[in-house]
Amino acid sequence: MTEKKKFRAVRGVRDIVPPDSSLWNWFEQTARGVLESYNFREIRLPIFEETELFARSIGGETDIVSKEMFTFLNQFTPEERYEDLQERIPEELSRDPGEGPIQALLEENSPQILSEVARAAARVRRPAESLTLRPEATASVVRAYIEHGMQTQPGLVKLYYTGPMFRRERPQKGRYRQFYQIGAEVLGASDHPAIDAELIEMLTVLIGRCKVNDWTLLVNSIGDANCRPAYIEKLREELHKVKDQLGPDSQRRVETNPLRVFDSKLPEEQPIIEKLPRISDNLCEDCQKHFADLLKQLDLRRIPYKHESRLVRGLDYYMRTTFEITSPHLGAQNALAGGGRYDGLSEMLGGPPVKGIGFALGEDRFIEVMQTAGGVNAKPTLDAFIVWMGEPAYPAALSLARRLRGEGLRVELPAEEARLKKALSLAERLGTRFAVIIGENEVSTGQFTVKRLDDGKQCKLPEADVAGLIRAAAPRN
Ligand code: HAM
Repeated sequence: MTEKKKFRAVRGVRDIVPPDSSLWNWFEQTARGVLESYNFREIRLPIFEETELFARSIGGETDIVSKEMFTFLNQFTPEERYEDLQERIPEELSRDPGEGPIQALLEENSPQILSEVARAAARVRRPAESLTLRPEATASVVRAYIEHGMQTQPGLVKLYYTGPMFRRERPQKGRYRQFYQIGAEVLGASDHPAIDAELIEMLTVLIGRCKVNDWTLLVNSIGDANCRPAYIEKLREELHKVKDQLGPDSQRRVETNPLRVFDSKLPEEQPIIEKLPRISDNLCEDCQKHFADLLKQLDLRRIPYKHESRLVRGLDYYMRTTFEITSPHLGAQNALAGGGRYDGLSEMLGGPPVKGIGFALGEDRFIEVMQTAGGVNAKPTLDAFIVWMGEPAYPAALSLARRLRGEGLRVELPAEEARLKKALSLAERLGTRFAVIIGENEVSTGQFTVKRLDDGKQCKLPEADVAGLIRAAAPRN
């Protein structure tokens, strides 16, 4: 007989199984609590978007867009193409109606209209669209903000999301192809540095709530449309002088997007990068003031930081504030969270002028730090194991299980009866706190035997009192 192929999770992705999944759940619940306390609301986003959305926001020269996206073609069915055609022609016509009212043009059967129709048809005759599994979620949040006209909402729009992201990176410890983020974004008319500082404060509160105390906050400003172009030219000039010492990626970036040279991970390029002019020494007055005010706002909140003038982050949409939180408990991939300001991204995506700032925390890495250096024990305990013996005991066991579960307790009810000794041994191995024993005697008296497994103490109680005893005995996680 030929041996059957055994399947494994594909390269760079993995399962999160119990008991780890309990810590993940605990963390996500805690994070939701912290984020909601700062008045953020959840946004649920699609897992894939048009490729163009990411290319335009993250930037074509970034590692993410140029090397790491999981992109696929979605073929349109003939029906979809026909529906698209029907939907789009009026839209296309009204977008550029030409000289007169559309109706008149249509009646005239004018060549202009005919060519419009032909153009629209050509557009929808595309056989497929390019889609990408999201490598991050900020682009989607801004897309959704624009799509739902959220600029009409009062005050700042504060959104958070959680879920898997996908990047085709070389898998290693702390780096996966499917990884999880929890992120938060603030969008609105103001770019006051207190908004940046409060967002960073929220992130540090979340980390502290998870009893992770060793971390470093790195902050920087990467300027805006006012000061960045002159700096980029200066940087390009300097890079030209050393171009022949750079690898092919950096050589190309000197011409296309010099700031991205800072993303290089090649060890031989580091001494060169070290000597390049820094954006933070080339900020305009407004950007300098914004950054100085941010630092004051952080001081006010007693949040320690380090100014890291090389921190440009690997995504093009940033301007002014950038930040990262690193952990000494991680290896080379030491960034727990990263973020920054992206004023102007909405306009780049065809939306209204709006300021924005956000961050994303890498859950895979954060959970790993919680496991090695954190003080949270999120292992759930089994509150009750019901041992029933003899058919007449089963209805009583069912009723008790339903009642205890209704009270929020974690309960195991075996499908089959087992001998007392065997059942108690299983209960112990499952880490159960209480065994409730229901035999012939218990059914006839209506008094169940409740046995505490850590010290073997037991008593008799009616069904109605069992939950109270278990709950009073010890706090649950
Ligand atoms: P990012 O720095 O690309 O930023 O990712 C944020 C965090 O996600 C990283 O600090 C890291 O913890 C985690 N991460 C990234 N790639 C991987 C990977 N391959 N495996 C495991 N963890 C990973 C962003 O994604 C921006 N959208 C953050 C942001 C929100 N900026 C403004 N708003």
